[in-house]
Parts: sequence; C-alpha cells; structure tokens
Amino acid sequence: MATIKSILQENRIFKPNDNFVAQANLLNKKDYSSLCKEAEGNYENFWGRLAREYIQWRKPFTRVLDESNHPFFKWFDDGVLNVSYNCLDRNLECNSDKTAIIFESDEGNITNITYRELYLRVCQFANGLRSLNIKKGDRIIIYMPMSIEAVVAMQACARIGAIHSVVFGGFSAKSLHERIVDTAAVAVITADEQMRGGKGILLKSVVDKALTMSNTDFVNSVIIYQRTGTHIEWNSVRDTWWHQLITDKPDYCEPEWVSAEHPLFILYTSGSTGKPKGIQHSSAGYLLGAMVSMKWVFDYKSTDIFWCTADVGWITGHSYVAYAPLAMGATQIIFEGIPTFPDAGRFWKIIQDHRVTTFYTAPTAIRSLIKLGSELPGQYDLSSLRLLGSVGEPINPEAWVWYYEVVGQSRCPIVDTWWQTETGCHMIAPIPGVVSLKPGSCTFPLPGIMAAIVDETGHEVENGEGGLLVIKRPFPSLARTIWGNPDRFKNTYFPEDIGNKYYLAGDSAQCDSDGYFWIMGRVDDVLNISGHRLGTMEIESALVANSLVAEAAVVGKPHEIKGEIIVAFVVLKGPSPKGENAKQIAIELRNWVSKEIGPIAKPEEIRFGDNLPKTRSGKIMRRLLRTIGRGDEITQDISTLENPAILEQLKKSAI
Ligand code: WTA
Repeated sequence: MATIKSILQENRIFKPNDNFVAQANLLNKKDYSSLCKEAEGNYENFWGRLAREYIQWRKPFTRVLDESNHPFFKWFDDGVLNVSYNCLDRNLECNSDKTAIIFESDEGNITNITYRELYLRVCQFANGLRSLNIKKGDRIIIYMPMSIEAVVAMQACARIGAIHSVVFGGFSAKSLHERIVDTAAVAVITADEQMRGGKGILLKSVVDKALTMSNTDFVNSVIIYQRTGTHIEWNSVRDTWWHQLITDKPDYCEPEWVSAEHPLFILYTSGSTGKPKGIQHSSAGYLLGAMVSMKWVFDYKSTDIFWCTADVGWITGHSYVAYAPLAMGATQIIFEGIPTFPDAGRFWKIIQDHRVTTFYTAPTAIRSLIKLGSELPGQYDLSSLRLLGSVGEPINPEAWVWYYEVVGQSRCPIVDTWWQTETGCHMIAPIPGVVSLKPGSCTFPLPGIMAAIVDETGHEVENGEGGLLVIKRPFPSLARTIWGNPDRFKNTYFPEDIGNKYYLAGDSAQCDSDGYFWIMGRVDDVLNISGHRLGTMEIESALVANSLVAEAAVVGKPHEIKGEIIVAFVVLKGPSPKGENAKQIAIELRNWVSKEIGPIAKPEEIRFGDNLPKTRSGKIMRRLLRTIGRGDEITQDISTLENPAILEQLKKSAI
C-alpha cells in the first residue's frame, strides 16, 4: 500500500454558477443530502422507490434486493419488464414525433429519426431476428459501425430477450472469434464496411475470417447492413442482407417480457490475467442505473441535445448511447466519424450545427483536440453547451481547465464520471448543480453508492492516504457475473482477503481532506490506452504466439495524449536483433499484435533483450520494466532480482 501515493496537488475549486444552479434537476444541497440520507437510512426502500419511478413494469416487483447468494445479487427479481419497451414504446405517447437520433455520417450526411420511426425500425428488425429463429436467451454478436442500425440491432435483441454482445469494430478477427466462441452466439450482425476519416474499413470480411476459425458451427446467421455497397464474399447458407431481412416484416413486435434479472448483454473487457471477461449485465438494475445517472449527473432535460462520443463497442456507448438517452426520451447525436476529419474542427462544428447542450467525451480526445488546435473551439458557436462530461481515465487538471474555459466558456460544469464496464453506470461523479468541482477529481459517490477507500485488509484509510477503491454495498447496475465463469467473478471482484464482502474496483484512489475522491489508476496489470482497457497479459500472450518470440512483458508508459502507451520488452528465440534488423522485427511484431487483437493494442515501443528481469521464483518484475520504459533511474529495491545485469542491457535497448 505504501506504493500507492498521490502526487497530484490541485487546489482550484469551481463553484456551480448561478444560472446553471437555477435550472438544475437537483437544485440544492438539501435535495442532494436528503437523497443521500434516504439511501443511508433505508437502502432498499431508496432503490425500490427509484425503480418504481423510473421503470415501466409489466409486473411489479415485490422484493428489492436478494443478497442470499453473495456476490450474485438479485434486484427486483420477481418484477417483469422489457428494456426496449422502456426505451421505445413508452416514448410513443409523448415523444412520438420527437427526434430520437440525429445521425451524422463520416462524410457529413445527416439523418434524423423520430421515436416513432425508431420504434418501427426496431420492431421490424426484431421480427426479422425472430424469423431466423432467434429466441430469448440466444446470444447475438454485433460488430457494426456507429450507426442508427447498431442501436436498432441492440434494441431489437433486447426486445426479443436475446442477449447481445457488441464487439468494437476495431477488434481483429481473432478477438471477434474469441467472443463468438465464448458466447456461443447463434448470429452475427455486421456491416459491409465502416467509414472512418474518409476511408472504408472492412467489417464483413473480418466476420468471415473469424467464422473460418475453429468451433463456430453454432453461428447460423450473419446479417449484413449495407453501409457502402462495397463487394463482399457471400455465403448463401448463412448470410442475409439487413434490408432483405426486414422486407415485409410487420412493424409491430410484441416484446418478450422478461424477469428483471434476465441478462440484457455481455460486454467483454480486459482483466489482468487470461482472456477477456464477458461482463454480464441484468435488465432492470442496469437500466435503472443508466437512467438515474443520466438524470442526476447529466442533469438531463427534455430540451437537451445530448452527445456522448463513445462507440457502442464500449460500455459508455451502451449506457449513454444505446440505453439511457432513449429510456429518458432524449434527442441524441450519433457520429460515425473521427474528430479530425475533414479537419480538426469537426467536433466543434457538430456541436454548433446541432446545438448540442451536453457533450460527453474522454480525456484522450480532449488532449488530442488541444494539440490539434487549442484555439479552434473559439471559431465555432458553442453557446448551446450547458454541461460537459469526461470519462475513461483521470483527466489531468490542465486538460480539465482548457475544457472548462475554452470549450465550456467557463459557463458549463464538467462532470468527471468514474465508473467501469462492471458498474454499468456512473458511480462517483459530481451532481453538477450542487457540487463544487476540483479539476482532476470525480468528486463524490452518487446517492446510494457506498464507495470507500480501504487497505488490503479491507479497513478504511484516513483521508489523504491512498488505498483500494471499493463499493461497500451491492447496487442495482452492478454486473451479475462473468459469462460462463462465476468463480472468476467472485475471485476478481469480491476477493476473500479484502474481507467485508466489498466490491473491489481494481483502481487505487484517495480522498482529500474535503472528502473528494481522486482516482489514481489501476492496481492490476490493466493498461488504460486512450481510455480503453487492455490487459498486459492479453498483449503478452499475443506476442508470445509469434514464432520468433520466446518471452514478452508489457508495461504502460505515461503519454501526453493517450494517457498511456504500450512498451513491450521482448526476448526472441534467437539472439537479440540489432540495428535495422531490430527495427524490421519490431514492425513485424507490432503488425502481428494488431492482427491478433486489434490496432489499439499495438505496442508503441518494442525493446529487445536477452532476458527479462525476474525474481528468483521466476516472476517478471514489471515495476522495473516500467521504470526502464519511462527512462527513469532505478531506485527501487532489486535485492530479489535473479539477474541484475539484464537491467543495464534493457536500459540501452531502445531502438
Ligand atoms: C478508468 C469506462 C479516472 C478506471 C467507463 C476504471 C477512470 C476504468 C474514470 C474502467 C474517471 C474510468 N477518472 N479513471 N472519470 N473513468 N476510469 O471498463 O481505471 O472501459 O477502472 O469503463 O477506467 O474502464 P471501462
């Protein structure tokens, strides 16, 4: 624990401004503290009340929380609902003609779709899925570009009770294959191509490739949305065009009424060891968390134009693109492209053109936009903005202040939201009308979220001391299990040694003397590259799978824009390469990892050595590699190191 120390000193405080406070959903400290008190006083009543208020139930629940099978909690479990009904049908009454999605394509074409149109499309597509004999509980892989269709596909799965698992379009055939096999999916929904920055990126051919690999016989159907019309290979047994599938399908589809605990989706995320974890979420608890946080943290108003820039391949794109905005009846932007195409003003232009009020993005995007033109936002009319958000990694105070002053024109609060794939929705984040902000701090846990910082034995530490971030009580939106691996769920998130049955987040954090939470980073071997989680183990396994490589160890190195970059230390089967040869092999290995996992996992630097620093018991000492990767002097204890001479060699190994 002594190694968890915060070095950040940040004393600036930004009070919510009067204009914002005057219109906020939670107006004053009294409302806020009465919510916190309600949660503390009668936890189950608090969540039960919110679940009745926010969700439309087919059959109401009679029991709020069942903790009998710890840590496999159940919430509202005798209640019956349908998530797509809650996102679509409920909007037919008041929001039927309201725009649900403003879609802007990579090339700048705009498509608006109302709640009624979205509802009809989801019904038709859901009927299409049923016509392929897809049923409640079946798993469906979605491998699609950012599009209205991606949301339709997710909602249609929810409508018929099928469990979707969205795979980010940047993942390789191998990663896709791994997820298809782990879920034993009966269908894959994809597109011919996706467009990013003026370039077409093939998707269907990646699916074809994944399906030629082992153990995929259970995949009966591949449904292809025609995005660009590029030529694709056709498998007449398996393949169906999206547009042909929906032809003649009725535009009413009775929802599949499911139990509150029915799995809504599985989303894979990296862990510190082994293969990615299929995080499985529930229906009601997940939906409730997403909706409540949208109301409190994004201070959601029906007049908002909401824009979360996350891809639907990540949890942020699930909770704050595919589910919460629809369930709240919001108008939202979905953007296919990238921030730099056709120029670095693209995000600002979208905000200007569509009068965006709420903008939610990641620190890595903010930092790269600063670099691309810190004066650019000033050339656009950003006066519609009223709230800004940040997610994915700690935001450094300098980027925070730029975001606040230049983008938000010192008018908009910034909600720095700490949460995870596993938590389903915001956990620690400011209530913007109430909480004064400190740049770099995600401030306080939301009402009903009992977060704390503890030592390795589960005892709470004093303010100012670093420790492990835990959540002390189960909460509705928490993942229910790891798909097919409940033991891993229990051991990873509720380990015995922490005791107290707390949820262990895997992050280190500290509270300052005012009780503000500051997240310091992961405590496990998980890297945070441009806001995306990658396990060192996954990248190492990919490297070692290359026939040239004997051993590999991967560490993170701080990076100005990406947060962290990947540095791989590699031992080849033959002698360590030098000069030009080393450069060539490094390129080959980088491309190899890109093929094995996806371009986001490519090591930025590769360094070759004859060995890796190991303890006498053979454990790689990653902390030493981290120091070498950063180019710092080694001041740590190396008494347990088996082969100290290797450090000198690795220090000089940069190519
Ligand atoms: C990190 C993304 C600091 C953290 C929603 C967490 C953050 C991991 C923040 C989860 C934040 C996310 N401040 N760190 N506001 N938000 N993180 O599962 O390390 O992709 O454990 O979910 O990102 O990443 P995931």
